[in-house]
Amino acid sequence: MSETSLSTSAAKRALITGASAGIGRELARIFAADGWSLVLVARRAELLAELAAELKAKHGTDATVIAADLGTRAGVDTVIRTVQERGLDLDALVNNAGYGLAGPFAELDAEKQLGMIDLNVTALTALTRAFLPGMIARRHGAVLNVASTAGMQPGPLMAVYYATKAYVVSFSEALTEEVRGTGVTVTALCPGYTETEFAARAAEHHRPRLFSGPMGKGDAREVALVGYRAMKKGTRLVIPGGMNKLAAWSVPFTPRGVLLKIVRRMNESA
Ligand SMILES: NC(=O)c1ccc[n+]([C@@H]2O[C@H](COP(=O)([O-])OP(=O)(O)OC[C@H]3O[C@@H](n4cnc5c(N)ncnc54)[C@H](OP(=O)(O)O)[C@@H]3O)[C@@H](O)[C@H]2O)c1
Repeated sequence: MSETSLSTSAAKRALITGASAGIGRELARIFAADGWSLVLVARRAELLAELAAELKAKHGTDATVIAADLGTRAGVDTVIRTVQERGLDLDALVNNAGYGLAGPFAELDAEKQLGMIDLNVTALTALTRAFLPGMIARRHGAVLNVASTAGMQPGPLMAVYYATKAYVVSFSEALTEEVRGTGVTVTALCPGYTETEFAARAAEHHRPRLFSGPMGKGDAREVALVGYRAMKKGTRLVIPGGMNKLAAWSVPFTPRGVLLKIVRRMNESA
């Protein structure tokens, strides 16, 4: 696949959501090392400020910090308004912020499950709608959406999380076709289980067997690097790790009833 317009642009700016921890923080480090200016978004302002200082010291990075709760419409609007008011044209939008919750749908807190949809689906869609038109008008840019291998099939005992990631995969792949020929690309990054703060938040009530690593554990930096490289090439969808690729590849060949039982088993408490 050919390199995108990103590889020829000198001054580049990316907005990364969920940059205060995990995969998002590693993405920020990788973008910064490659000379990008950054807009860092998450709720924990102090962690974003620390990261901005680290990147400034190491790479001279120009980083703007926006502390916002993307689980709320007001938080999403703050991000959009701040970027527009400061004239921060984006060459890349990285929709990474997200969380999961493990346990039976009927027992997990209703608000927390709806909040997952607000963050993983609504905020990602709203930010893409806000910034994609400018990229298309400039005929230049990339969207990197952090989905998951969870988006490849239904996930009993993490039902809402898997469904949000199925949305991200479907939405991202549809957009790749819509933006074809515009100079803009869209990439879905689909990690498998990766060691970050994700598991602690997801397993508040119920710790899935999957989190003990039977399918292997991804390293946040390696996952981020795979995503960054795929975005720069304009790859439609990328799955880091051989086991994860194999598992995703087998989904269409596995009878749905069998698949549901396998995934349920992975999501049961160990
Ligand atoms: N780790 C895995 O196994 C795995 C596997 C596949 C896909 N993923 C996906 O990878 C992405 C990153 O997750 P991670 O593993 O790096 O998890 P993480 O370490 O928990 O990081 C999540 C990031 O999202 C931010 N965030 C959470 N809620 C937010 C909110 N309401 N508003 C703004 N920012 C918010 C967090 O920052 P604040 O707390 O400071 O707001 C943090 O920076 C997620 O979309 C996740 O679904 C993870």
